[in-house]
Amino acid sequence: MPSPPHVLTVAQFERPALERIFAAADQMRVVAERGGDRRLAGRLLATLFFEPSTRTRLSFEAAMFRLGGQVISAEMASDTTSAVKGETIEDTIRIVQSYADAIVIRHPVAGTAERAASVATAPIVNAGDGAREHPTQALLDLYTIHSELGRIDDVTVALVGDLRYGRAPRSLAMLLTRARNVRLLLAAPPEIAMSQDVLDQVAAAGMQCDVVETLDVALADADVVYMTRVQKERFPDEVSYRAVEGRYRLDRGHLERMRSDAIIMHPLPRVNEIAPEVDADPRAAYFRQVKNGLYVRMALLDWLLGANAGVV
Ligand code: NCD
Repeated sequence: MPSPPHVLTVAQFERPALERIFAAADQMRVVAERGGDRRLAGRLLATLFFEPSTRTRLSFEAAMFRLGGQVISAEMASDTTSAVKGETIEDTIRIVQSYADAIVIRHPVAGTAERAASVATAPIVNAGDGAREHPTQALLDLYTIHSELGRIDDVTVALVGDLRYGRAPRSLAMLLTRARNVRLLLAAPPEIAMSQDVLDQVAAAGMQCDVVETLDVALADADVVYMTRVQKERFPDEVSYRAVEGRYRLDRGHLERMRSDAIIMHPLPRVNEIAPEVDADPRAAYFRQVKNGLYVRMALLDWLLGANAGVV
């Protein structure tokens, strides 16, 4: 049996595929604004979340319902599924795919989505595997850059905050290798700086990448200021978390030093990295980014389950 299409890593998306996803997401915006359609009627999606989530799970579920499909869901699956009894992820996938046509999975252990896909006959979507990847977030982030700035090439992107444990900025940095003439500015406490594996990929793609110390240096040049939460749950202890938490915080004062045509993004949830007073600034794009997540996930579900499933 041929293996089904999956969404496992940003590495699988070349430039033409990205352009098709963005065009499909543009169409899904129109579909969603009309209240949805019925193209995935009769199809069933399972969401299996072994880590907390608001946006990712609910936006996949909303996307499925907006396209006429249905959803079964296990949230806090670490506590509520047979994982508690010692069932392997492979067996869990074999069971769930007997019920559902596609599976969205989030898990604290890096590589779990690949393990799931290795036994899957249904499409698997990686909705975050530990501190490694979050490909659908990176797709919606790049789509947001595309729709806000009108381009993904010739951009300077500042990634700020927890670049070591943050799977969202890691995935975005890797996906940006598909764009031309991108400059990355990395602003992170040294303890949670971007990992070498990502730096190597970015260098291999010929991308200019500079480590900057202060937010002000990053802000002066950036077209995109991508703020992130310090990933408390991935620290070995409270002391090491406290040592880096709150180091980068964007507030009203910074807005004056930013370019007038720049945008501020955040994968959310925010803790204190962006002061609430920033929300009213037109450059604050993070709530628009959330909506884009719905459109991109509708486009991905249509690609995985629709009439032309798996055609790239
Ligand atoms: C991110 C995640 O789970 O990696 N959230 C999300 O999916 N939008 C970022 C985070 O939790 O800080």
